[in-house]
Amino acid sequence: MTTQQTPAPEEVDSIDPAPAPDKRYRVKLTQTNEVYECLPCENMLQGMARLGRRGIPIGCLNGGCGICKVAVVAGEWEKTGLMSRAHVSEEEEARGIVLACRAAPSSDVDIEVLGKMQKSVFKGWG
Ligand code: FES
Repeated sequence: MTTQQTPAPEEVDSIDPAPAPDKRYRVKLTQTNEVYECLPCENMLQGMARLGRRGIPIGCLNGGCGICKVAVVAGEWEKTGLMSRAHVSEEEEARGIVLACRAAPSSDVDIEVLGKMQKSVFKGWG
């Protein structure tokens, strides 16, 4: 017969908390109310494409063509790479107008697609 002992309170306090699960952030497209989640390692465009969703147009994937331009209208985001200044000025970026392939959510976000909404379902990535 095995017995288990309840740890003394001082032992409980010294136990490290369990690691937090990967945080995923919700991204909502304001024009369609479509919602998807981004993994911690994903920019907003990757998260959409991974799930086979449509909405944000997909182009060069490296911040150069400007086709994925969106406005973050609610929530926080972080820059993941260079954005072409031909498509997003510093002033626009400061207002949350970004390229979805170069911006990752750092909270739940609402975004507005500024270009033409993509009509066809994305078929693959990379
Ligand atoms: S896909 Fe070209 S700038 Fe984002």
